[in-house]
Amino acid sequence: MQTPVESPSELALPTRATSDISLGWTTKRRDFLRMLGYGAGAATLGPLLAACGDASGQTAADAARNELLQDEAFWTDVQNMFVLNRDKVYMNIGTAGSMPQVVLDTFATENRRKAEDSGSGYTNLADLRAKVARGFGVDGDELAFSANTSSGMCHAILGIPWREGDVVVTTNHEHGGGNTPLAIAQDRYGIEISRIEMPVGNNQTAATYQSLFDERIRQLKSQGKRVRAVMWSSPTFVTGTMLPIAEIMEVVKAHELISICDGAHLPGMMAYDYGALGVDFMSGAGHKWQCGPGSTGILVMRNKIRPSNPLPLPEWYPIHTSTYVSRPRSTGSQAAFDVAASVTACGSIHTPMFEALGRACEMWDTIGRKKIETYDLALSAYLKERITERWGVNSLYSPKDDPKLVSALTSFNPFRNPADVMNSQKATTFVNRMLSDFSPGFSIRNAGFPVIGYPNNHYGIRISTHVWHDPHDIDRLVDAMWKLSAEMA
Ligand SMILES: Cc1ncc(COP(=O)(O)O)c(C=O)c1O
Repeated sequence: MQTPVESPSELALPTRATSDISLGWTTKRRDFLRMLGYGAGAATLGPLLAACGDASGQTAADAARNELLQDEAFWTDVQNMFVLNRDKVYMNIGTAGSMPQVVLDTFATENRRKAEDSGSGYTNLADLRAKVARGFGVDGDELAFSANTSSGMCHAILGIPWREGDVVVTTNHEHGGGNTPLAIAQDRYGIEISRIEMPVGNNQTAATYQSLFDERIRQLKSQGKRVRAVMWSSPTFVTGTMLPIAEIMEVVKAHELISICDGAHLPGMMAYDYGALGVDFMSGAGHKWQCGPGSTGILVMRNKIRPSNPLPLPEWYPIHTSTYVSRPRSTGSQAAFDVAASVTACGSIHTPMFEALGRACEMWDTIGRKKIETYDLALSAYLKERITERWGVNSLYSPKDDPKLVSALTSFNPFRNPADVMNSQKATTFVNRMLSDFSPGFSIRNAGFPVIGYPNNHYGIRISTHVWHDPHDIDRLVDAMWKLSAEMA
């Protein structure tokens, strides 16, 4: 059990520019972690899921709640680092995060400094990328700053020299951020898009999704199709299902394909090591769970051969850049050149924005990305258990029991008449009334998606749980949703 920090100011992390430590930020990090009683990156909430439903008679939800409350003082201090309006409970991080005070300060200071010094924006931010990259398990030449997830997806997909007839295997639960460059490649180069229908709910395992990808690729190959790439979201934005990257990568490698992950929600939510995952491209947002400024994104690009993925680097050309190195890509463990610079540098860039993103990443690395992941997932696990108690497990579109499939996005059907979830107007009214009918109101959203066996889209209610929430927020949310669902029955 950690010693709680004594005041929120202790979490106002020291400024950068001192010497390097494990993740390249400040010398104070180790002291900070010692003060909190944590090892670097420790998952301190314990084996939360394993604790559920024990012999003492407490429910899975009770167990999750108790576990979360053990860390309450720490997370209260983290919550106090944000400037969020207290009249609302912000549970739509999947759409937009919020910059904490230290990030706002960096943004303002750097903006001012740039103006005072007539600062240049001609840089590829190599030093900052190198520091940020360590928190993602890669090197600076493998991490680019993009404008957002959609921009990173365009860089990844439209940079590949497609040939007519190339097939990209993907899902029917993708976001426009990935679907749009795929559609452009379809019209421009004549690629084919093969979509796997995604099962939803708690009855899936990681193996379910792994087999779906493998079977589809085998089927296409047996038809003589030239499958060239797999593109998928982890997690999908509609159900929050964490399509399992490691398992999908096994399939990708077995079939020698290009891997493109729409990881919009990954930076700031999950503590993934992309060097170990070996994915060719992972495009994430800087402005959602990572709580950096708007118009920031993180694109991880494979740029050297690591044991995790021995396949040759995919052929790829920058499509939006003023930095082009006309040289063959690496065939070994050393980068041939800084490929991520070509995505980051396109003319003069707004450096304060990325300095502020770097500050957000520094804050995350200092708290511990694994600790944040554990907390976010624990909140979501707690929410899913409470939903299961009231509405039943079949109301969940998100999985809850396979740890490889869970994310901090929770999607479910709140309606007493389950068929109402196919009424988009009713789902929108539910979202609007969750904000207007309660004080504080809840900011959530719905998302429409096809469900196997149903003629119409389901408009599930989607809730994001993050560092500024606690179990009390979840309790109030569930009570409010239960009351509103009764009123709308
Ligand atoms: C899965 C997914 N991909 C892409 C996007 C687009 O994100 P961005 O605004 O960062 O481009 C979103 C946004 O919610 C998303 O959920």
